[in-house]
Parts: sequence; C-alpha cells; structure tokens
Amino acid sequence: MGHPFRVSIPHTSRSLLYLRWRLAVILFIAVLLHQHHLFSVSRQSLAAKYSPTKFYDAPNALPVRLDEEFEVQDELTFKREAWRVLGEGWEGKVFAYNDSVIKTFTPGRSPFRNCAPGSTGEKWPTEIAASLRFGGSYTNIGGDGGSNTTLEGFLPVKAYFKTSVSPSKPPEWHLVTPLLSGGNLNTLAKSLTTDQKPHTFREVDFRYRPVFNTLLSNLHRLHTIGYCHDDIKPANIFIQDSTHWVLGDLGNVRHITHPYHSSRLWSDNQQLPDCRANDAVRALKSYVKFVQMSASDGEELNEEFFKRREPLSRLFWTSAARAHDLSAARIVELSRAEHPTSEVGDHVFGPTRSFSVLELFSKRLVLQRAVDRAIQTRMGEKLARWWGMVYVFGIPSVSVCSV
Ligand SMILES: Nc1ncnc2c1ncn2[C@@H]1O[C@H](COP(=O)(O)OP(=O)(O)O)[C@@H](O)[C@H]1O
Ligand SMILES: [Mg+2]
Repeated sequence: MGHPFRVSIPHTSRSLLYLRWRLAVILFIAVLLHQHHLFSVSRQSLAAKYSPTKFYDAPNALPVRLDEEFEVQDELTFKREAWRVLGEGWEGKVFAYNDSVIKTFTPGRSPFRNCAPGSTGEKWPTEIAASLRFGGSYTNIGGDGGSNTTLEGFLPVKAYFKTSVSPSKPPEWHLVTPLLSGGNLNTLAKSLTTDQKPHTFREVDFRYRPVFNTLLSNLHRLHTIGYCHDDIKPANIFIQDSTHWVLGDLGNVRHITHPYHSSRLWSDNQQLPDCRANDAVRALKSYVKFVQMSASDGEELNEEFFKRREPLSRLFWTSAARAHDLSAARIVELSRAEHPTSEVGDHVFGPTRSFSVLELFSKRLVLQRAVDRAIQTRMGEKLARWWGMVYVFGIPSVSVCSV
C-alpha cells in the first residue's frame, strides 16, 4: 500500500516531465549560444565600423593655421547667439551664420574614429580630417600653401577648432565650411515642386542629368585615390549652384580596404562588397529619388520605372544589372548613352486598360512602395547596437592613439 500523502506519478508522465525539462534546458542553452553569437558578431561589426580611416598621404602635422582662420574662429564664437540651426543629428548640430556653416560634434555620442594629429593621444572627428584632405583649406586656395591633394566637388574648410559652448560644458570640435545657399537634393526637389510652372520628370532629368554626371566624375576621382564616401544619399548631396553639386558630410569616408566594408553590418544593410560600386549605386538611387520628388508627374515616373522605357529607368536597371562591378565612371558612360530628352516625343506607348478609382489608388501605392524599395539608401545599426549591448558596454574601440 502506498503512503497516504504521497501522490504517485505514473512512470510515463514522469519521463514526459523529464523530457520537457531537458528540452527546456537545451532550448535555454541554444538561446544563450545564439545570443552570444549575435553579441560577438555585432560587436565585431561595430568595432570595424568605428575603426579609423587611413589617410595615406596626409601630413603628420596639420597645415599651419593662418591668421584668417583664427579671425573666422574669433568672429564666429563671439556671435554664437546669432547662429541659425540648419540641422540636428545624433552626432552634433549644424548651424549657419552669414556665409558659413558650422558643424559641431557632441562628445560622447558617436565615438571619434581617427587620432588627432600631433600625438596628443586624442581622437577627433574623421570628417575634419577628410574635409582637410579632400576639400583643402579655404584660405589656402590659390596661395602658395595650397594643397595639391584636394579634389573638385568637395567643400573646402574655412576653419576648425575645439572650444566650449559654455564654461560648464566640455569642449566640442567645430568644423566651418562655406554656406551653399541651395541646401541639399531634398530641399532643391521641394523648391522645384513649389515653382509656379510644374516640371515633368523628363524635364527635371533633362535639366539636371549633366550636373549628376559631373557629380559622378567627382565621386570617381575620390575612388581613384582610394576612398569611399560610404554615406551617399539625397541629404548629403549639397547644391553649390545650378551646375555644381557637392558631396558633403564626409564623416563616413573610409579607405577602400576598410574592415567595415567586409563586416556583417555592411552586408546586412544590403551594401555591395565593393564600396566604390556601392557609392556609385547609392548616387544613382539618390538621383532617381531626386527626380521622383521634384516632378509633378512622379507617379508616371513610378509607372515607367519598371517598364524600362525611359532613359532614366533604362539607366537605372542597366546599372543595377551589373551593380557588383560598377564604377561611377561607368555610370557616366551609360548615362551619356541614355541621354534624356525633355519632350514626350515618340514616347507614346500603346493603349492601357482603364482602372477603377480604387484599383488606381492601390496600384499607385504598391508601385510607390516598390520604387521606394528599389531606390532606398537607408543604413541602420540599431539592431547591431542592441545585440552588441552598446547600452551596457558602449561602442567597442579598437584603436588607441599614441602620445
Ligand atoms: N556647407 C553647407 N552649405 C549648405 N548647407 C549645408 C552645409 N553643410 C551642411 N548643410 C546642410 O545641413 C544638413 C546636415 O549637414 P550634414 O553635414 O549632412 O550633417 P549630419 O551629419 O547631421 O547629417 C545637410 O543636409 C545640408 O542641408
Ligand atoms: Mg548628413
């Protein structure tokens, strides 16, 4: 006879219970292992992303700062109250004052990647180093101290300095460049849509394709000397004048063999393994987006986009088909072969069946989404930050600056 208080569990249910326990433990270990894998892959990616850009032929010391640069610094810091906010991002703020743009880099946000020159053991924004390397010094242009390593189509540096916004705050790096009053590709598109006379996508493409080709040639020059922009998108293409666009926001410039380009984060963001081809494709996507945003008949462009019957859509898809070994120079060639015309001309395509209002609406929505997906340039690192537990351990740092 069994014990009066002991509940006897039948043998089969006991082994079922053990099985469940064992499964739960195995599952728990698998989840831990997977979490650990994601943790280390994400941290490797972030360490790669935030590792420095090598400026091969950069001088060991900074160019001698001229009196004019100190004057710009003094005048600007004195008039700080009058600065107008142009934009505010995670890494800092962008202000305009008179004919200057001042970009500040808030300490403790995105870590600085490059060592500041002069063996101070300190890091500074890669954007300042890159702007000095490719844009050169504004006050030196034309002078005998002018740098011969600068490139056309990049903004020169008016001044750069590190100073506190207020006595209680830590000092911040400031980068000063000339103000381009045209804004960026997004603002240009917006102003085109508010013009009295609306523009068709063919007109916009006809008008701006030569400017885009020049931009691509400038990008190709950057690639030829061994660097990629890594952040080409409409907001980072600045409008100098009606015939010149500038590649701005150089904070992500990296040498071609930089480890970020072979990281998991890079490929997870659907970037091409060759960063030059990637830049070129992103430039083309930005241009198509610009034409789509500027045109009064953007919906018609969406319609034509997948049919490949227009010079712009043919250019896009021919380039996309060979994206992996594309270069900016090759897109210029293709672009010249697919030169746009401003008129509809012989672009009269056979009759299409008529749609109900609802059909038309949903068709447009689906098309818009499909086009947006094809030309999107977004790149995120939120997931990598989450799995890499940046909120606990911060961004992994791989480089230490020598003193
Ligand atoms: N020199 C400039 N002239 C005109 N507009 C500028 C200039 N520099 C930046 N801007 C404007 O400020 C915005 C943000 O500048 P950007 O350098 O891209 O900073 P962020 O790193 O915050 O993206 C740009 O999209 C552009 O519209
Ligand atoms: Mg930007």
